[in-house]
Amino acid sequence: MLAVGLMSGTSADGVTAVLVRVGRGLRVLRHRTFPFHPRERRRILSLATADARVLSEANFWIGERFAEAARRIMRGAPVTVIGSHGQTVWHEPGRHTLQLGEASVIAERTGVTVVADFRPRDIAAGGQGAPLVPYVDAYLFGGDSRVRALQNIGGIANVTIVGGKRTAFDTGPGNALIDEAVRIATRGRQEYDEDGRIAARGSVDEALVARLMGHPYFAKRPPKSTGRELFSRTFLLERCERMLRSRAEDAIATLTCFTARSIADAYRRFVRDRIDEVVVSGGGALNPVLMRHLREMLDPVPVRSLSAYGIDPMAKEAAAFALLAVEAVRGRLNTAAWATGARRGVVAGKIVPGRNFIRLLTGAAP
Ligand SMILES: Nc1ncnc2c1ncn2[C@@H]1O[C@H](COP(=O)(O)OP(=O)(O)O)[C@@H](O)[C@H]1O
Ligand SMILES: [Mg+2]
Repeated sequence: MLAVGLMSGTSADGVTAVLVRVGRGLRVLRHRTFPFHPRERRRILSLATADARVLSEANFWIGERFAEAARRIMRGAPVTVIGSHGQTVWHEPGRHTLQLGEASVIAERTGVTVVADFRPRDIAAGGQGAPLVPYVDAYLFGGDSRVRALQNIGGIANVTIVGGKRTAFDTGPGNALIDEAVRIATRGRQEYDEDGRIAARGSVDEALVARLMGHPYFAKRPPKSTGRELFSRTFLLERCERMLRSRAEDAIATLTCFTARSIADAYRRFVRDRIDEVVVSGGGALNPVLMRHLREMLDPVPVRSLSAYGIDPMAKEAAAFALLAVEAVRGRLNTAAWATGARRGVVAGKIVPGRNFIRLLTGAAP
């Protein structure tokens, strides 16, 4: 069965689209990130304080951008179902959550059945509404007994531990602070530290790393989750504005080291089992300086990119939502209650019928 996954994370860098084959296992056939224009990105980030009219409008234009990403990744392939995470504009764990990117628009533009809005069902069942990817981590890696830390480094960084005592939580910032520092230092000319080039030129201020690690989030016991609201521009300006203005390369080197430290430190504090392997996904896997810090800090535990398992690190989360959609149209539970804290696993997602929907219902899809 072919499926498409669509995702835009906290970075709001763009819509990542994947085409996957789901059979025995999950194979990524194609993937691509369709970047948001910096103006669109700023519009998205401002939605947290927008009024109802602006939100309603955004739901439709973001839906169009997701639909366009879907069409461009499908290129006419016979896709059975599209799973769309949407763009989170608000998330209060366990209380309420809002993802935009109207699924009706995606279904109408593609003709394919769409499953979207996965988080609310888990909240309705008493869960945090996040994280949802651990279901997929267990699906992909749960088959053997090796203890793995599946570390995603998006805007925020989160880990799933499988193989030993299963657990999942946000370790803290991912690329969010690095990106924000790059934007400040380049006056918006650059959106991120491509291939860690800026960090590679700077030197790390260890005392500042230690001060940053003093933030109470890192000592808090899991389950825990965080967001861009905490590891924000304000966080950065309050702690290293002067350094950012005078020695930007050192500041970016220091933030890159701090991001790695917060991950390594979280394992030390909160993972009881001895970790056999760390598998990194998300855009952070493409930052060689961040990866080098992680390897040095976690030595001798091997730190690999998810690409070692044949899945591009940038494609993982989108591929996860493709799988969740496939499970949903098969009527299978697709949440991990052990990760979200829900009373039970549920079939998460709302279904918008496409042209193939009746065939899907009768099991004759695509
Ligand atoms: N070549 C690269 N070098 C360094 N960082 C990169 C590279 N490619 C992507 N990134 C980082 O990854 C981020 C996007 O990662 P992603 O996994 O899509 O996060 P999110 O899920 O928050 O959207 C970018 O904002 C950037 O910081
Ligand atoms: Mg992204």
